[in-house]
Amino acid sequence: MRSKLVVGNWKMNKTPTESAALVQAFLRHADAKAGIEVVVCPPYPSLGVVRELLKGSRVFLGAQDVFWEPSGAFTGKVSASMLRESGVEFCLVGHSETRGRFGKLEVPPTTLPFFSETEETVNLKIRSLLFHSIRPILCVGETASERESDATESVIEAQLTGAFRGIEGPELAVASVAYEPVWAIGTGNTCDASEANRVAGFIRNWLQGRFGSDAEPIRVLYGGSVKSTNSEELFHQPEIDGGLVGGASLDPMEFSRIVMSA
Ligand code: PGA
Repeated sequence: MRSKLVVGNWKMNKTPTESAALVQAFLRHADAKAGIEVVVCPPYPSLGVVRELLKGSRVFLGAQDVFWEPSGAFTGKVSASMLRESGVEFCLVGHSETRGRFGKLEVPPTTLPFFSETEETVNLKIRSLLFHSIRPILCVGETASERESDATESVIEAQLTGAFRGIEGPELAVASVAYEPVWAIGTGNTCDASEANRVAGFIRNWLQGRFGSDAEPIRVLYGGSVKSTNSEELFHQPEIDGGLVGGASLDPMEFSRIVMSA
């Protein structure tokens, strides 16, 4: 039996001072209950302060991205060993926003090449995280136009195949996969719970086909406009082991309600 996992992705929000206030407020309302793992992923500059505040709680520290090389002339990048020493235990990989696939575009289209994650970079990042004992949370999902052209399964299959290329089953016991339909991210258009369950089941089948019984501990999450009004229904679908929460994780009361609903 897999325990539930609820992850808050703060994206590019909250300075270190604001991060401290958010995490303190969240911990006042809800500490993680036994049987549920909770992770918060603040921006890099807030990792230190959030780590200190999480000490003694059962909430884990996560990061939003990583660069795969151990060190070197890679201006602006952060390695897995740096994250590990900063107390990071989970890390998102291949989020649609790092892939340049936005549910709601808030940057000029000409800047999209800046968001250029590929299947290959996702794979390199997962390998580097596993090597440093950080648990990867791989994000996969289709855009609205891919869904309309019945490509949901083929897009997700290609993302899973690329992400896990050359990685063996037992190593991946610590990983999770988040089904995040791009059209549901930051748009308020949550995926219908039964459809999210169906796609999560597709991901589970793929994992079983690729890794056999080693796939059993890998959790499949749902993400995309999760709120306290829909989280209970989503998280209790048989194929869904928890959620990846963006906007709603910035409100401590709301995020506590979402965690409680798991
Ligand atoms: P959202 O974001 O909850 O704001 O839709 C989810 C995510 O991007 O992980």
